[in-house]
Amino acid sequence: MAQYATHYLILATIIRLAGAQSVDPGIGINPEAQGATEDVTPGAGPNGSEDWFNTGLDGDGWNPPFLNFTTLYHINRPAFYAGAGSSCEQYDSYFQIGGDSHGIDPTILAFIAMQESSCQADAGGPTPGLMQVSCDNYPNGVCTDSIQDNVNAGANYLRSQLDQYGNNAIAAIGSYNGWFMAGSGLNSNKGLTDDYPCSAEGQSNGEPQNLDYLQQTLNGWFTGLNPYGDQSWIGTYRCQGSCSNGALC
Ligand SMILES: *[C@@H]1O[C@H](CO)[C@@H](O)[C@H](O)[C@H]1NC(C)=O
Repeated sequence: MAQYATHYLILATIIRLAGAQSVDPGIGINPEAQGATEDVTPGAGPNGSEDWFNTGLDGDGWNPPFLNFTTLYHINRPAFYAGAGSSCEQYDSYFQIGGDSHGIDPTILAFIAMQESSCQADAGGPTPGLMQVSCDNYPNGVCTDSIQDNVNAGANYLRSQLDQYGNNAIAAIGSYNGWFMAGSGLNSNKGLTDDYPCSAEGQSNGEPQNLDYLQQTLNGWFTGLNPYGDQSWIGTYRCQGSCSNGALC
C-alpha cells in the first residue's frame, strides 16, 4: 500500500506541476474583499475576485468597487525579492525613497514595477523606465535618465490617483494602466468596457489597457506569484497586449 501511495503522490505532483491552475500562498483572505479565496485561481485570490475588480466592464462601463489601499494583503519585500520579484531587488533603495516621500508602501512600488517593466530600468516606450510612467509626472514634467526620478514619478502618479479616488486600491491601480470610468470623455463618455481596448478608438489611443491588470497585480505579484512566468494562467481575459486573433486586449 505504501508503495502505491508513493506512486499516487508522485503522479499527483507531476499533474500539479504540469497543469497547476491554482496556488495557495498560505496567507489567508482579505476580509474586505468580495469573492476573495485563499487559493489564487485564474479569476480570484486573497484580495478579491477579478469579476469584482472589473465591475461594469461587461456592461455600462467600469465602476470600481472600494478596496482600501492601506490594508491590502501582500507578501513582504524580502519574500518578493527571493522569488518572483528578484529582478527588483537591486532597486530596493529607490522604492524606499520613492515610497517614503509619497506615503506609499515601497513593496507595492516593487509589485507595480514588475507588472509594468519586469523591473527593466531601460524599458522604453512612450511611458519609459521601471515604472512606465508618463514624463508629465517627473518633477519638472521632463523625463530624465535617473532611475530614482522614474520611481519617484511612478510613486507621484500613484499617489495622485489614490488621493483622487479616496485611497481606493482598485480605482488607483486600474487607472495606473489607463483604466477610466464614466465622465472621462473616452468611449462615448462611458467607463472602460471589455470591447474598448480593441475598438478603433481604443487602438488609436495606443497601447491597449490590459483587462487582467488588476487580477495580475492584486492577486499575482502581491501574493508572490508570477503572472508573466510560472503562473501565466492568472487572469481570465488572457490579455496578450495585442488585438489579433479575436483577443480582447
Ligand atoms: C483604510 O484603512 C485604514 C487602516 O485600517 C483606516 O484608517 C482607514 O480609515 C481606511 N479607509 C477607508 C476609507 O475605509
